[in-house]
Amino acid sequence: AITIYVEQDNGERVPVEAPTDMGLSVMEILKASEYDIPAICGGMAICATCHVEVLESGELPEPSDDEAFMLESLPHATETSRLSCQLRVTPELDGLVVRLMPEA
Ligand code: FES
Repeated sequence: AITIYVEQDNGERVPVEAPTDMGLSVMEILKASEYDIPAICGGMAICATCHVEVLESGELPEPSDDEAFMLESLPHATETSRLSCQLRVTPELDGLVVRLMPEA
């Protein structure tokens, strides 16, 4: 398992353990922990209610065209915004730090 951190409003980074061998997305990990993000499209990259800002990471896979298109339409998106449903939990994501965004 790897550790993903969620930065709180007070700057505290709270760890979440994430297994890498189950094909889960970061959205699914957040949802299964204390973060009750809506993710209403269930991971189809069409609702943006799983929007996170990536604060620290290693190399991440590039967003797909669908994800990039959706991110461009979001009022709160930043240069490092991602749809967490499109981020697969892999060993490379260890130490990822995200912040939940207003759409989430
Ligand atoms: Fe809908 Fe990620 S869950 S875009």
